[in-house]
Amino acid sequence: MSVKRIGVLTSGGDAPGMNPCVRAVVRTAIYHGVECFGIRRGWNGLITGDVVRLDEKSVAHTINRGGTILYTARSKEFMTEEGQRKAVSTCKFLGLDSIIAIGGDGTFRGALALSKYGINVIGIPGTIDNDISCTNYCIGFDTAANTAIECIDKLRDTMQSHERCSVVEVMGRNAGYLAMYVGLACGATAVLVPEKPIDFEQDVIEKIRQARFNGFTHYMIVVAEGAGSAADIAKQIKEAIDLDPRVTVLGHIQRGGSPTGRDRVNATKMGYLAVELLLAGKTNRIVCTHEGGFTDVDIAEALSMTKNIQQMEVDVLAAMTGI
Ligand code: F6P
Repeated sequence: MSVKRIGVLTSGGDAPGMNPCVRAVVRTAIYHGVECFGIRRGWNGLITGDVVRLDEKSVAHTINRGGTILYTARSKEFMTEEGQRKAVSTCKFLGLDSIIAIGGDGTFRGALALSKYGINVIGIPGTIDNDISCTNYCIGFDTAANTAIECIDKLRDTMQSHERCSVVEVMGRNAGYLAMYVGLACGATAVLVPEKPIDFEQDVIEKIRQARFNGFTHYMIVVAEGAGSAADIAKQIKEAIDLDPRVTVLGHIQRGGSPTGRDRVNATKMGYLAVELLLAGKTNRIVCTHEGGFTDVDIAEALSMTKNIQQMEVDVLAAMTGI
């Protein structure tokens, strides 16, 4: 398999750390004498030929930048055969033999489709939701978690002064990894995630009563967006108990900001590994974490995997909130 010209793109929701990852792909490619093109606006850029040649200088001063310098999009057209054929024509026209796609499940589905036309593809997990089954870590999760933690710590100050209850909605789409992690880090009174059926009386009201019995006068309820809306939960709390909760939806704030050291280093390693995989003759792989290190998994296999909230996190939360 010959690798002469690599295209790199970011697709789906942006995640802090995508820039260091792109930088690592570009620099590793150049280090090995391989040319690199940036494809802008995700798979749409491959359809329309919206590309830019990248050299080592074009990714200078990006390691600390949030967002993605390549822009991103969720491409409907690329999900069609016609869109994919247009993308393949762009690859042929530009001489791109390989594509490295940074994003989530939707991005990898796109990569798998492209591979059927003979293009080499490697996926790198980048999403604040951390919901890619083949990996424990996705680029951006650490920064998003730390942003949410910082915001909730601020909320706690005012909740404490006013002896209030706060219901905070955290992103995560259909997954609760971010909410669970943030809830543990912030000492939440209760954490609601979509992976666990909610018994409102037991999981929320009883936890608040317990905390109150133990002398606490402020209560932090963290809810993953996939488990329900913070506004609804607050309303239910108000109806069930003598509290008037305040609602905070952290929203897209969680997607921004300078990537943490962990996201920068992991993104750099993953970008490097993606190029090394191609040069070793591998294709159709997703770079992922494994037992403290990194490995790679077949894309189709990765897309059929499932994962769940770690039982240990559930157990620890129960011990922290059940006293
Ligand atoms: O997948 C990342 C994510 O931020 C999810 O947590 C959230 O549900 C979704 O994207 C929001 O998408 P958009 O940026 O289109 O509003």
